Amino acid sequence: MKTRTALLLLLIIATIQTNQVKAQARTHSSFNEGWKFRLDSINSYDQPNVNDITWRTLNLPHDWSIEGTFSKDHPATPGGGALPGGIGWYRKTFTIPTTSKSKSVFIEFDGVYRNSEVWINGHSLGVRPNGYISFQYDLTPYLNYGTVKNVIAVKADNSKQPNSRWYSGSGIYRNVWLTTVDKLHIDNWGTFITTPKISNQAATMNIVTNVANQNSSDKKFVLTTTVYDANKKIVAKLVSNTNVAANNLTSLNQSAVISNPVLWSIEKPSLYKAVSQLSSDGKLIDEYQTTFGVRYFNFDSEKGFFLNGKPVKILGVCDHHDLGALGSAINSRAIERQLEILKAMGCNGIRTSHNPPAPELLALADKMGFIVMDEAFDMWVKQKTKYDYHLDWDKWHRKDLEDQILRDRNHPSVIIWSVGNEVSEQWGNDTSGPAIAKELVSIVKSLDTTRPIVTANNSIYNNMLQSNAFDLIGYNYSHDQWKEFLKKYPGKKLIITERTAALETRGHYDSVPFDTIRRWPVRWDKPLLDGNPDYTVSAYDHVSAPWGSTHEESIKELLKYDHVSGMYIWTGFDYLGEPTPYPWPARSSYFGIIDLAGFPKDVYYLYQSLFTTKPVLHIYPHWNWKAGDMVDVVAYYNNADEVELFLNGQSLGVQKKTSNDLHVKWRVPFAPGVLKAISRKNGKIVLSKETRTAGAPAKILLKADRSSVKADGSDLSFITATIVDKDGVLVPNVDNSLTFSISGPGFITGVDNGDPVSHESFKSNRHKAMNGLALVIIQSLKTPGKIKIKASSENLQSNDIEIISK
Ligand code: GAL
Repeated sequence: MKTRTALLLLLIIATIQTNQVKAQARTHSSFNEGWKFRLDSINSYDQPNVNDITWRTLNLPHDWSIEGTFSKDHPATPGGGALPGGIGWYRKTFTIPTTSKSKSVFIEFDGVYRNSEVWINGHSLGVRPNGYISFQYDLTPYLNYGTVKNVIAVKADNSKQPNSRWYSGSGIYRNVWLTTVDKLHIDNWGTFITTPKISNQAATMNIVTNVANQNSSDKKFVLTTTVYDANKKIVAKLVSNTNVAANNLTSLNQSAVISNPVLWSIEKPSLYKAVSQLSSDGKLIDEYQTTFGVRYFNFDSEKGFFLNGKPVKILGVCDHHDLGALGSAINSRAIERQLEILKAMGCNGIRTSHNPPAPELLALADKMGFIVMDEAFDMWVKQKTKYDYHLDWDKWHRKDLEDQILRDRNHPSVIIWSVGNEVSEQWGNDTSGPAIAKELVSIVKSLDTTRPIVTANNSIYNNMLQSNAFDLIGYNYSHDQWKEFLKKYPGKKLIITERTAALETRGHYDSVPFDTIRRWPVRWDKPLLDGNPDYTVSAYDHVSAPWGSTHEESIKELLKYDHVSGMYIWTGFDYLGEPTPYPWPARSSYFGIIDLAGFPKDVYYLYQSLFTTKPVLHIYPHWNWKAGDMVDVVAYYNNADEVELFLNGQSLGVQKKTSNDLHVKWRVPFAPGVLKAISRKNGKIVLSKETRTAGAPAKILLKADRSSVKADGSDLSFITATIVDKDGVLVPNVDNSLTFSISGPGFITGVDNGDPVSHESFKSNRHKAMNGLALVIIQSLKTPGKIKIKASSENLQSNDIEIISK
């Protein structure tokens, strides 16, 4: 009994001590809630005394463009997503406790699109044109303490458009943070951890820590860095003593050896955490955490990419930053869902085309195991659209690039830096291209020498490659040049930064043979000359942009050459803007392997059958055709020797993949009924799949990706609404309009169906289905409870489901 009391006492003392310690260290908290918002291109609202009581109240992240109405006449143009821009004002009133008087207070913006200016209590803190860069301001000199209020005002100016070749979104579309910390503290992005020597037995780790002293006197301090493995076991503890001059910054180097390191990989993305603690006068004054990974890699000019000594073909995707119906307003769960869908397809890489991503994407890529190409710019000095970043290039490119590297260089997932995509300076005899390339490379190398740097070029014959600036040659499309590359640039390493640009509408199939390959558009001025009058593109993987190829064509090339380290497919998900091959009324892309709503197109399973070990058998198209139609039935499969197809019990023959084809197919005269495929290995059935002719649409079926969410105000459940016949079979060609209602502690934050031509609002409680499917996205509130969602539609039996928020 005595020992128990003593133990309890010890525990209480320990808890009190930890709490004291915590209370003295930094606070870094979300600053997303309770902002006031107003769209206004005329007046200024930067001063504290503005009456914003009638303004809309909202929580960040927020993208006002996605709330707008589609029109080809918006200055963004359909290329920019055909949604409104303008100037938005955000204001937030807050207090800071008097206990923070001796501290420094910073505000951090992960990204504001674009041309932001920030004021605190009427003082301008600065402007930032780049819409994708993260930045911090020191609020301390202008703050009021105690009950006196402070006002932050943010102007986001996205009025000058077009400034983007894709949908950008507008506003404070990423997270905002408030950090309160001692005047002696670890600087913003203040650590850099590298692991220059790695073997199975040991990894040498170097840690650079930047300590800032905002006091007017010199300070002595102790820096203790404790490194934990993924099981929270301490693997190193380093203590350094030094001092830093008044109003100055000092850099400390520490190094240690981790024995038997667990390496970060695609399959097992094991992470370490360094906790840096600063103490001064015997008191803990700051604590800062850095997640990192131990891994090594190299690109070989003949054999491609190796991660931890093992060959890995990078099968990546390029993706823009929008999250479909959520627009560009970032949400961790929405990014995680995208990455989960990609991971399950066998994708192992992400190119953040063509800008620095949200920090959450990199944190998730670290955790889930993706090879990230972290890209900086889509243009340099020469414009791509009239008002784009070329106008800010001279003044900002150095700062923006430096900040990107400083922010992102501890992420193990970041393996390649890209400093440009298809910049115009690559063409002709433009000598400025190689010169700019050299400058950018030297900026990156001054901050990180551990990763190769690329630009995404259009041809191996352009002037950029002559600059010799790059460790790795990045190259988009034209696979006919892949083979020549080895001969032309012996010793140089190659990565395909972009490839494919195939086009599909999910669930739509042209009634032409599967192997009818088409390149659309043939003419930009008359895109419908070859295209379909209803703006659909057949999902048989037989249409691509003229500069691209079908998925199957480019996968075959990728697998053919060892010297090709990998490729990033254009694109993983459909994205808003850049409608190709059709102009308006199309307003989003057809390039995705997955549509805008997150529903996989058929080619998704081609990748899954080739790049995962999970047993796959996927047959398509649907089985609702007209009598007399000849239909090509295609199957993607793996883990089997053959597939046999049956129509209403009658065998249509056995097919095996040849060395030439990554699919099998049958040409079948349509008869309603059941189409069934069976895959076999050594005569034994591996999988069987059925597609049935659906009857008339009868009911709606709802299915949530997760039936339980966190009651944290931001978690999401993605609910698929399927229109089925009386027997529960998906009706493949219907577009019934659905109405969603919700009760309980959640709200509808988006609706979509993946249709690039739809002009319905994403921010609504109703949406049409496309080819039998629609999506409703539910966001939790901070109150736990049961969220009930109901979908109804005229002449269909409605359906409801429950989500638990806890
Ligand atoms: C590439 C470009 C991408 C996108 C793509 C469409 O040339 O880098 O941003 O425009 O074409 O296929």
